[in-house]
Amino acid sequence: MKGVILAGGLGTRLYPLTHVTNKHLLPVYDKPMIYYPIRTLVGAGITDIMIVTSGPHVGHFLAVLKNGTELGVKHLEYAYQAKPDGGIADALLLAEDFSDGESVAVILGDNTTDADITNEVKRFHDGAVIFLRSVEDPHRFGIAEFDRDDPKKIVRIIEKPENPPSDMAVTGLYIYDAKVFPYIKGLKPSERGQLEITEVNNKYLDSGKLRWANLNGYWSDAGTFRSLYEANTYWAEKHGGDDE
Ligand code: TTP
Repeated sequence: MKGVILAGGLGTRLYPLTHVTNKHLLPVYDKPMIYYPIRTLVGAGITDIMIVTSGPHVGHFLAVLKNGTELGVKHLEYAYQAKPDGGIADALLLAEDFSDGESVAVILGDNTTDADITNEVKRFHDGAVIFLRSVEDPHRFGIAEFDRDDPKKIVRIIEKPENPPSDMAVTGLYIYDAKVFPYIKGLKPSERGQLEITEVNNKYLDSGKLRWANLNGYWSDAGTFRSLYEANTYWAEKHGGDDE
């Protein structure tokens, strides 16, 4: 399986910090944010990785990551998302040639987690896997609605619902087979002008090929000042002792 880290977007919610560099290179405790999703992939045995990025600071990635060997990456590629806010699915489409028919583990570049996804990577065969996590503020996320008669069966994923049907959020980690690319090509931009990953997941759901797993462990995005601060606090407390 190959790995894709989506590090495009504009990071406008972190202005003025993101006027200076790409969001995914900002520090989370003692490392650039993007180290964390790389470590999640490498920890699951995925060492062939593409980073999709965009915006005015793309050159900074090379200076920080070089060819990735220091982080255990065997092969590192970069792709440039021409429309930086084209959406998560738009960014993922750039990995089509790189994936070369193989399945892909995808992580949003601003997600940090200490969950181990090795088992899901190993047992993946086809279709898609999404990782869910219970959250306190479900109206901010894509939320799973479950079958009343079968509480483990997802019937729909609703993006930022006004009346959330559950508190189980779709996190920024996904595994897809190669069908993901034709599915993305069939999408139309949403009201906010983006190709939405939730629509891709609902396509897998409609074809009976969407599975879900609990994301066990710490997980957070770091795309707002509050979540960036909280991620810094979590990782500082977890690894702070390493300094001494
Ligand atoms: P968001 O946080 O939703 O978008 P953003 O990074 O542009 O930030 P803001 O809303 O503050 O302007 O995106 C989550 C992650 O998804 C982001 O860290 C990188 C990835 N992404 C892309 O790669 N391409 C895109 O077009 C978008 C919207 C996001």
